[in-house]
Amino acid sequence: MATARISIDRTNVVATINRRIFGSFVEHLGRCVYDGIYEPDHPTANEDGFRLDVVELVKELGSTTIRYPGGNFVSGYKWEDGVGPRDRRPVRRDLAWHSLESNQVGLEEFGRWCELTGSELMMAVNLGTRGIESALDLLEYANGEAGTALADERVRNGKAEPYDIRMWCLGNEMDGPWQVGHMSSDDYGKIAARTASAMKTADPSLELVVCGSSGSAMPTFGEWERVVLEHSYDSVDYISCHAYYQERNGDLDSYLASSLEMKYFIETVVATADHVKHKLRSKKTIQLSFDEWNIWYLDEHRDSEEVNDEWRFAPRQLEDVYSVADAVVLGNLLITLLQNHDRVGSASLAQLVNVIAPIMTEPGGDSWRQTTFFPFSVTSRLARGEVLTPRIDVGTYETALYGAAPLVDSVATVDAETGTSAVFLVNRSQTESIEVSIDVSGLGASAITEAVTLHDADPYAKNTLADQNRVGLKDLAGASLADGTLTVTLPPVSWSALALG
Ligand code: AHR
Repeated sequence: MATARISIDRTNVVATINRRIFGSFVEHLGRCVYDGIYEPDHPTANEDGFRLDVVELVKELGSTTIRYPGGNFVSGYKWEDGVGPRDRRPVRRDLAWHSLESNQVGLEEFGRWCELTGSELMMAVNLGTRGIESALDLLEYANGEAGTALADERVRNGKAEPYDIRMWCLGNEMDGPWQVGHMSSDDYGKIAARTASAMKTADPSLELVVCGSSGSAMPTFGEWERVVLEHSYDSVDYISCHAYYQERNGDLDSYLASSLEMKYFIETVVATADHVKHKLRSKKTIQLSFDEWNIWYLDEHRDSEEVNDEWRFAPRQLEDVYSVADAVVLGNLLITLLQNHDRVGSASLAQLVNVIAPIMTEPGGDSWRQTTFFPFSVTSRLARGEVLTPRIDVGTYETALYGAAPLVDSVATVDAETGTSAVFLVNRSQTESIEVSIDVSGLGASAITEAVTLHDADPYAKNTLADQNRVGLKDLAGASLADGTLTVTLPPVSWSALALG
């Protein structure tokens, strides 16, 4: 059996955990909102039409900040359509996804859903077809104290207290030719800077996210960030990153090492942002908002008929069904986000329900957990306190896309308040179990309180409507802690977590 040694130095602190690293994303796309979180005729629906079975799963998932309402959708969205009496809300065509939008869910309903799930609302403004004025109007409607026209309208619509939305995205993926209102970096940098500056004039304490690249494969990657930040640096707090991964051409070895690409993405954006910082002689350091990340079988959807010219309400779009291997990759991506938490201040798993999502639903029927649900929910629950970077001494394997990739990846967290800690691990080998000895002597742990793994003899096993519990967490058999050394055996293609107390 292959072996690895990991040593966790209590003083090697990356960052104190900001719960926003466990954010998610709800877009008006496919069945994420309608027939996802919202289905008034469902037996579990509350008076607002929200499915309470889904609310329970969202709480169990442990997602924190929720980005809303898009995504590509926001670039053609009129926020005013989604407030006020529901019987007067207009039906519109959503050009991004070729769907009909009923506007039965808007800021008011989604705000209540956030209260129900204990989530923080992160709002995106439309910089595709709209601009500064509508962003300021939305800000006044959402966050204004009663006494001005739009804040009073909110009060009349039933919300006396402001929503107090802290994080705002300045548009979405404006570098993408598919985006309604797509712009050059220069044009976007200018409109983003002006919008940000106007919003900060209204409230200097807002946290603003300027659009970075929609993927590291974009031809403008790097240069886009430089130009946009040179325009907007003083007025923004975050630059966004979006990345989706999938297995291609049956190359599971490369796919299992996808987090190396995410690491490269983060390092490139950090280097570019810091270059602009020094060029502008700024004292401020820009953070990354990795506000779309996930597994997405985009190539397959591109070839499908699901986005077509039939204008339908809530069509089934982007409903990927995830495997064990997908969950292992997702767990590893979350490890990477934590390893880089000093610069990645916020992140959103895209998306939450039905659309490339950890939670699935059937209209009038069940809701269930996809494989990817498990690493996210366990990491969100166990990762507390501070993130520590472990030193990992392990062999590598060859991949077509990334060259030599380490067989094991890991991150640890420690919570001084409760005296608890946690270690998260992946084994990327398709063939070998790996015995790992982990020096945890600096963590002051005396017992293993939880040891779980996501692994299956079939790395392509999935949970489906017909077989909703085919894949789940298993005990990580044989884990032991003695004399400050934790010993675990990681099965092939697995994600594991251990809690220590
Ligand atoms: O999450 C799905 C889509 O991916 C979003 O709408 C868009 O921002 C990205 O391209």
